[in-house]
Amino acid sequence: DRSIKIAPSILSADFANFGAEIRAIEGQGADWVHVDVMDGHFVPNLTFGPPAVKAFRPHVKTVMDVHLMIAPVDPYIEAYAEAGADILTAHVEAGPHSHRTLQAIRGAGMKAGVALNPGTPAEAVAHLLDLADLVCVMTVNPGFGGQKFLDMTGKVRALREMIGDREIHIEIDGGVDPTTAPQVAAAGADVLVAGSAVFKGGSVEAPEVYGRNIASI
Ligand code: DX5
Ligand code: ZN
Repeated sequence: DRSIKIAPSILSADFANFGAEIRAIEGQGADWVHVDVMDGHFVPNLTFGPPAVKAFRPHVKTVMDVHLMIAPVDPYIEAYAEAGADILTAHVEAGPHSHRTLQAIRGAGMKAGVALNPGTPAEAVAHLLDLADLVCVMTVNPGFGGQKFLDMTGKVRALREMIGDREIHIEIDGGVDPTTAPQVAAAGADVLVAGSAVFKGGSVEAPEVYGRNIASI
C-alpha cells in the first residue's frame, strides 16, 4: 500500500498524558503512531523504554511504529515485541550485524524497519532490503524534535529505485511540515512522521499537517 500515511511522533506530546494524546491524534486522522525510543548513548537524549511502550499499546488503535535510537538493539527486541510494537525500526549505524537484527525483529513477529542517519548513503541498506518492511530516511540528525529539515530527496529517489517492486515503505522522519511533506512524498516516500508540526505547545494543534490534503499528494 503506497498511499501516504501520516505518523505523528509522540516525542512532542505531553509526556504526562500519552493516552489522551494518542487518542487525539488518531481521532484527527493519524494513520500510524510513531514512538521514539532514545537511550542517551546512540543519540544525546533519553525518552522511554519497553514498560512505557507497553503502557501506550492499549491506546493505539492503528499501528504502533517504534523507532529505536539505541545501541545495541538486539538485547531489547523481544521486550519490544512483548510491549506490542507492530513495526520495530533499528538504525543501520547502531551495530555491525544489521541482517541479524532485522531477522530477529521479524522472528519476534514484528515488521522490520531500518533507519539511516542523514550522513549515511542509500547504498548502506542495499543488501538489507530483502529483510526490511520499511526504510526510514532521517531528515534530521536524530535525538530531538523541532530541528531543521535536511533535504534527502535524492536519497529517497535512489531508495525507491533500489526497492523496485518490493513491498517496502519509505518513511521520512524529521522536520516534516506542510511545506516539506509534499516534497518527500513526490520523491517516493509514503510514511511521513511529524512531531513538532503536529504537537505545537505540547498538544495537538495542527491537524492540517496530517490532513488528507497532504496525504493525497
Ligand atoms: C528525531 C525523531 C523524530 C522526531 C521528529 O530524533 O526520530 O521522530 O520526533 O520531530 P519533528 O517532526 O519535530 O522533526
Ligand atoms: Zn522517529
